[in-house]
Amino acid sequence: MIIAIANQKGGVGKTTTAINLSAACAMQNRKVLLIDLDPQSNSSISFLNPESINGTIYEMLTESEKDWRKFVYETQFENLDLIPSKISLAKLEARLIGDFDAAFRLRDRIAGILQHYDIVFLDTPPTLGILTVNALVAATHVLIPVQASYFALEGTEDLLETIEKVKVRSNPALRLMGVLITLYDKRTTLSKDVENQIRSVFGERAFKTVITRSVRLEESPAHKETIFTYAPDSSGAAEYMQLSKEVLNRA
Ligand SMILES: Nc1ncnc2c1ncn2[C@@H]1O[C@H](COP(=O)(O)OP(=O)(O)O)[C@@H](O)[C@H]1O
Ligand SMILES: [Mg+2]
Repeated sequence: MIIAIANQKGGVGKTTTAINLSAACAMQNRKVLLIDLDPQSNSSISFLNPESINGTIYEMLTESEKDWRKFVYETQFENLDLIPSKISLAKLEARLIGDFDAAFRLRDRIAGILQHYDIVFLDTPPTLGILTVNALVAATHVLIPVQASYFALEGTEDLLETIEKVKVRSNPALRLMGVLITLYDKRTTLSKDVENQIRSVFGERAFKTVITRSVRLEESPAHKETIFTYAPDSSGAAEYMQLSKEVLNRA
């Protein structure tokens, strides 16, 4: 199972979800690989020191090196490995321009790795460019985080359209796993209104679990920890654990 976490809006909780959902699945004895496809490298930096990163997803996608283990890093979390990115990944689009297989690079490169993992998570950048398209072509499922705010669904039509195009042209098996409401604020009626709107649009496709806004979730990456070690008793830890159960059930 390969789950792309995508929304071309920034700041909606893609990376926070990638990190903590990966950890939650690893804690349930799934062998998990997280691939950071965002040149901003927030997922990578949440687990690794930038100085310790040599080979990244950029080299993996552009060089002929066959040994994928050169790009895979163990994290301090049992069962959780990472293929990191660096800012150099921003050059990928220019590098691959005109390549007939540009959209298929990731799928081809990870084909030989999949047997070693139960779940692969793909953290994507806030664009619908070549990196996100590579993620959608390689994925079996898409998970869309949506922030509980005004204009929450603005842009999701473009994303759903891109998903449809990828399905028709190159990945018919791709499925929308679910829409995840993030940054939810229990005190506001706005959050409740947005939740109702999302549930009326997506019905069963909206996850039951909602991720509330919490300082602990915001702080944990700065300490190079997931929510499960940084604040195991927090609402964020409980919510991401609950989400992982829904995800594993929908697989
Ligand atoms: N549930 C949450 N509660 C509080 N802060 C959050 C939560 N989810 C994400 N954040 C913070 O919001 C910002 C954007 O989240 P991030 O996961 O990086 O989004 P994206 O990857 O979609 O750009 C980050 O500073 C992150 O720490
Ligand atoms: Mg991000």
